[in-house]
Order: sequence, then structure tokens, then C-alpha cells
Amino acid sequence: MTTTTITGISELVTCDDSTPDRLGVRTDTALVVDVGANTILWLGDADHVPATDNRVDLGGRALTPGFVDTHSHLVFAGDRSAEFAARMTGAAYDGGGIASTVAATRAASDDDLRALIAGRMAEMRDQGTTTVEIKSGYGLSVDDEVRALRLAAEVTPETTFLGAHVVPPEYRDRRGDYVDLVTGEMLAAVTPYARWVDVFCEPASPYAFDGEESRAVLEAGRDTGLGLRVHGNQLGHGPGVQLAVAMEAASVDHCTYLSGADVDALADAADVTVATLLPGVEFSTRSPYPDAARLLRAGVSIALATDCNPGTCYSSSMPFMIALAVREMGLTPAEALYAATRGAAKALRRTDIGRIVVGGRADLAVIDAPSYLHLPYRPGVPLVRALDL
Ligand code: NIG
Ligand code: FE
Repeated sequence: MTTTTITGISELVTCDDSTPDRLGVRTDTALVVDVGANTILWLGDADHVPATDNRVDLGGRALTPGFVDTHSHLVFAGDRSAEFAARMTGAAYDGGGIASTVAATRAASDDDLRALIAGRMAEMRDQGTTTVEIKSGYGLSVDDEVRALRLAAEVTPETTFLGAHVVPPEYRDRRGDYVDLVTGEMLAAVTPYARWVDVFCEPASPYAFDGEESRAVLEAGRDTGLGLRVHGNQLGHGPGVQLAVAMEAASVDHCTYLSGADVDALADAADVTVATLLPGVEFSTRSPYPDAARLLRAGVSIALATDCNPGTCYSSSMPFMIALAVREMGLTPAEALYAATRGAAKALRRTDIGRIVVGGRADLAVIDAPSYLHLPYRPGVPLVRALDL
């Protein structure tokens, strides 16, 4: 066992949610890490550190749990920057552009995709993210969905089958057959590589799935042992949130358009279903931001994630999401940081990440500033990175 002491921490954000702001910020504190096991062994008074093999002095920088990015679509090839530019001058997003990414992704080799995934993962780590969920959804054939999940599983345990992203062009006139494929042969083939199943439940998009189709996808996934996640209420009001709550999904993501009944349902389900907010999508699609402060007041569990994807938000930056959540969604910096760490861990049903606790993983992010407040205070400045020990 190799042990390392971390000292010089100006502010240690533990995300101990028994504290008033749930951040559990400590000063004059040091950590001891078992580097091989990536586990926190000791946390305590900086003046009474036990003897260890190595010592890292952060020189007065803040240390937080690494960000937990619970929603990304990193397995893709191709370029849709022109679609983004068109939106910035008024074009609306409806999911139609996904087909072009599907074509480019199918045409890419395994090694091309591996390199693209690795590049995006490195980008994330360089911005403080230590856990990444990755969805399939740009393959949309049995072989291409298996391939996407196989490649995703090489880099993260948090893999999500999103065969029900959109109905691919070749099935446009026989949607029912595609739902049968997703819930049958495709699901059976991907199960060894997937932890979760997800569906783009969005009757407002002609390409995505309605409530009934979405329920079929989620039921089939659940029956094969996958955990449930839902893309819901992104483009308009719809059944996604209610379906996610009724089926005890771990998370319903986007939640851009919420009715009072949706908020009530999420509040009642706060122990089970997290509302994952993706402010980069509102930013990149010129959509209204959901009122996250209202959700917290109602008692909803929330998380923040990037949704890093070529269509609605090609940003891998959790610090940017924190800044947007503070500026545009009404969260305090403390609430936003919690939602990006411990709140997000809950959306993956994990207790070993998203906080700094003895026995938990030593997934840490160091901020080149004295306080975590600098995350939203200095948007766009590369202050935070995952700590390599
Ligand atoms: O989470 N909403 C559906 N899927 C993605 C966008 C996919 C794309 O446009 O390529 C999302 O926003
Ligand atoms: Fe998404």
C-alpha cells in the first residue's frame, strides 16, 4: 500500500449533507489517501497528520469531490457545428440532426471512436470530472449499439443503453418494429455492456418516443436488470417526468418544461428519482432555463450534468454548468456544487463518490483558488482539474 498525505488545503468541501449548506466545508484539514486503492484512509486536523509515504502540498488551494457527470453521449463521430450556428440565428432544435450523427458514427472505425471518446474523457478530467456516465444512441442498429456500449464500457462502469434515442431513418414508417427491436434483440445483445437503460421520451419531437413507447422500453430494460433513466420534458411538457417517477427511475434528465404536478411528483419521489438539470442544453438551444431554486424549495433532489453531445450541448465542462446554474437557474454556488457532486452521485445511486469521506473513493478536484466560490465567480477560466496522485 502506498499512502499520500494531502496538505495545504485552503478549503475542503466534503459534501457532508448533515451540515447546514450540505457542503461540509472544513479548514485546517488534511487527507490521507491509499493511492493504489484510490480510497480515503484518514481525514483530520492538519497539525496531526499520521506518517505516510508521500506528501502533496496544495499550497492553499480548495479541494472538492471530483464532479460526477451523470449524462453524456460521448460515443459519436461527425460534426454539427453548422446546426448550432443555424440555431443561434433562430432555427429550432427538434432532434432531426441526430440522424447525421448516426450516419457518421456508423461509418467510423472502432479505433476512430476510441480516440474520440478518449479525447472527450481527457477534456472532462482536465476540468475536474472524475465519474462519467456514457450513453449509446448514435448506433441504432444491434451491432452499432453493442459497439458503442462495448467502447463506453472500456472507460466507465456507468454505461447506458439508449437504443430508444430516435427512430432511425430506415424504420421511419414502422416505428412499432423499431420499438420491438429495441426491447427485444437489441436489448438482449447490449445487456452485458450496460448498467442503465434510457429513452428519449418526447412526444414534441417526431423522431423521439411517446409515453407508451417509452414505458415499453423502460419495462423491458428493467426486466433484464438494468437501472432506469429518462430524457424527459426537454422540448415541451410531456409524460417523461411522470413516467420516470412512476417507474422509479434513478433520474429524469432535462426537466426544462415542468408543470406544478411534475414538481409535486418529483418532490414526493425525492428519495428515489433525481431531476438532472442540463443547463448547457438550454444555453446551446436558446431554451428557457428551468427554475432550479423552485425545485429545491419544493424538496426535489437535483443533479447537474453536461449532456455532452454534438446536437444540444457540445460542452464537457462541469464548471460551466455550475456557472450557468448559479447565473441562470437561481442556485447558490453551494447548491450548484452539491448538485454537481453528491446530488449527481445519487442520480447514479452511488455513495462512494461525490463526497469526501473516510472509506470513499479518492476522486478529488483541486481548484486553483482559495474557495469553491471561484467556480461560478470566474466562469470560463480553467481553474479546476482532477487531482492526480
Ligand atoms: O440529450 N435529447 C436527446 N438527445 C440529446 C441530443 C442528441 C443530439 O441532438 O445529437 C440530448 O439533448
Ligand atoms: Fe442527453
